[in-house]
Amino acid sequence: MPIPPPKNLTVATTGASGAIFLRHFLLAASSDKRVESVNFIASDSALRVMAEELDLRGRSNLVAHILGSPGGPPSQKIKVQSNADIGANVASGSYPADAMVVIPCSVGTLARIANGVAAQLIERAADVTLKEKRPLVLCVRETPLNKIHIRNMFRAADAGATIFPLIPAFYYRPASLDEMAREFAYRVLAHLGLPQPQAFHWKG
Ligand SMILES: Cc1cc2nc3c(=O)[nH]c(=O)nc-3n(C[C@H](O)[C@H](O)[C@H](O)COP(=O)(O)O)c2cc1C
Repeated sequence: MPIPPPKNLTVATTGASGAIFLRHFLLAASSDKRVESVNFIASDSALRVMAEELDLRGRSNLVAHILGSPGGPPSQKIKVQSNADIGANVASGSYPADAMVVIPCSVGTLARIANGVAAQLIERAADVTLKEKRPLVLCVRETPLNKIHIRNMFRAADAGATIFPLIPAFYYRPASLDEMAREFAYRVLAHLGLPQPQAFHWKG
C-alpha cells in the first residue's frame, strides 16, 4: 500500500550551523497544503547559532523571525513546543505525529538520539519516532567528522533514522544561498513523501 503524505510533522532545530536551511524547510512545509500542523522545537544552542546566522534575539515571536517576517503574524500551522517540556504532545507515541525532521542536527543531538538519551523533548520525540517506526530524518552538520560522529550516524541509521547530511547539490547551479537552501528543503520534503512541484529535477 502506498504511504500517504505526512500531515503532522515534528520539526526540531539544534545548535549546528545552517539556520537558513531550517528557514526554507519551515517555509516550504508550512505552505504545503498537505501539511496540517507542524510542532516545532528549538534547543537553546539553536537560538545561539540563529543569533549569529539570522540576527535572532531571544525566543519572542520566534517562528515569524525564523521565517523572515519578524513583525508578521504567527504561522497558524506551526506550534512551538518547549525543549524542556517532556510532557509535550510529541513526547508520546500515542500522539499522531507522522514524521520528524531535525534540521540542522548537531553532532551532540545526533549522539543523544543514537544512544537513546531522551532527557529533553527533541531527543525524546526522536526516540518516540524511532520506536513507533515513523520516518526520522537527521540533517547532520559538522565537518570534518570524527569516528564518534560516524559511529553515531551508523547507530541512528541502524535504528531506522535517515541520515540526510546538510550537504546541498551544485549541479543545478544555485544563484543564491536561499535557492540552495530551498532546493535542499524540497529534497527533504520529497524524501518524506511531500514532493514539491517547483523542485529542480535532473533530466540527464
Ligand atoms: C556559531 C556556532 C556554530 C556551530 N556549528 C556547529 C555545527 O555545525 N555542528 C555541530 O554539531 N555543532 C555546532 N556548534 C556547537 C553546538 O552548538 C554545541 O555542541 C551545542 O552544545 C549543541 O547543542 P544541541 O545539540 O542541544 O543543540 C556550533 C556552535 C556555534 C556557537
